[in-house]
Amino acid sequence: MKILLLGGKGMLGSECRKVLGGDEEIVAPDKKELDITSWDKVIDRLQHIRPDVILNCAAFTRVNTCEEHKMTFLCRKINVEGPRNLAQGSARFGSKIVHVSSDYVFGGDKAFPQPYFEDDPLDPLSEYGRAKMESEMAVRENASDYMIIRTGWLYGMKGRNFVNSLVADVVSKKKNKKIKAPEDHFGSPTWSYRLALQIRELIKADAKGTVHATAEGYCSLYEAARFVLDELKLKVPIEPCALKEYHKKAKRPSNCILENRALKKNATNMMRNWQEDLSEFLERSGEDLLKQAKDSAKR
Ligand SMILES: NC(=O)c1ccc[n+]([C@@H]2O[C@H](COP(=O)([O-])OP(=O)(O)OC[C@H]3O[C@@H](n4cnc5c(N)ncnc54)[C@H](OP(=O)(O)O)[C@@H]3O)[C@@H](O)[C@H]2O)c1
Repeated sequence: MKILLLGGKGMLGSECRKVLGGDEEIVAPDKKELDITSWDKVIDRLQHIRPDVILNCAAFTRVNTCEEHKMTFLCRKINVEGPRNLAQGSARFGSKIVHVSSDYVFGGDKAFPQPYFEDDPLDPLSEYGRAKMESEMAVRENASDYMIIRTGWLYGMKGRNFVNSLVADVVSKKKNKKIKAPEDHFGSPTWSYRLALQIRELIKADAKGTVHATAEGYCSLYEAARFVLDELKLKVPIEPCALKEYHKKAKRPSNCILENRALKKNATNMMRNWQEDLSEFLERSGEDLLKQAKDSAKR
């Protein structure tokens, strides 16, 4: 099977590249080689590559930046126009498109700990969330064979995520600067490597439609941060705070818990408990994370 992977240098994309690259032929142009916002380039590359599957892990993921007046245009261009180009191209050349979406398409006001299901109404609170919602619409309206995978709270070695940001904060901690994490923001920390394994399984099964794929179980971001500090044996005080105080620019849904209902229904759920995965990730990569944080603190 030939897979065209977009965003292959990002956090999730780099894991997909490794995981899928074992069995499949992967073509993974970077942004310079194929900018998904260019219709002409997308069509030209699809014509040459003729992939069986287009896996779109490319996105503009800086949620706060998306709120800035001047950046909203770019956010929509990459997060809506890009997937629309890929979806239209997939229909033209008979490829399947697998598109990654986000928990931020929901409003987050479901009473905790009720999870969101695949068919719950969408009600995004931020520019990023609105763009991801519209990306889903663009894929559904334009592709003839698609799968949309909603995930959330991703972490891994690459990209900016709550685990490496926390470690960077601890390492570069200035005297008297308190480390805080919100106790009213709930979700499931999801290992990008585990999600890549799940995506591989879904592609092999030729799955269709919209699925949720996050780690099993849930916690507050404060609990997740405490877990990381304990596992890495970093004896640093951390204070619980309110989500509103933690993220002032872009609103986040308070409840980001997604139920992997479609995966369970079709017996393809490979997602594991969040503590189990986070613990394994930190065991494998904890030292590298600390080194990375120390190196960047020196610069
Ligand atoms: N991170 C999370 O917690 C999270 C949560 C829910 C859903 N998601 C979704 O999961 C997917 C992967 O997220 P991620 O965190 O792995 O993202 P990421 O690390 O920010 O990587 C995004 C990738 O997209 C590339 N890209 C940006 N603009 C592009 C363009 N115009 N054309 C081609 N490539 C472009 C980037 O290249 P450059 O680096 O060169 O700009 C980068 O390689 C996204 O759809 C995101 O919305 C993420």
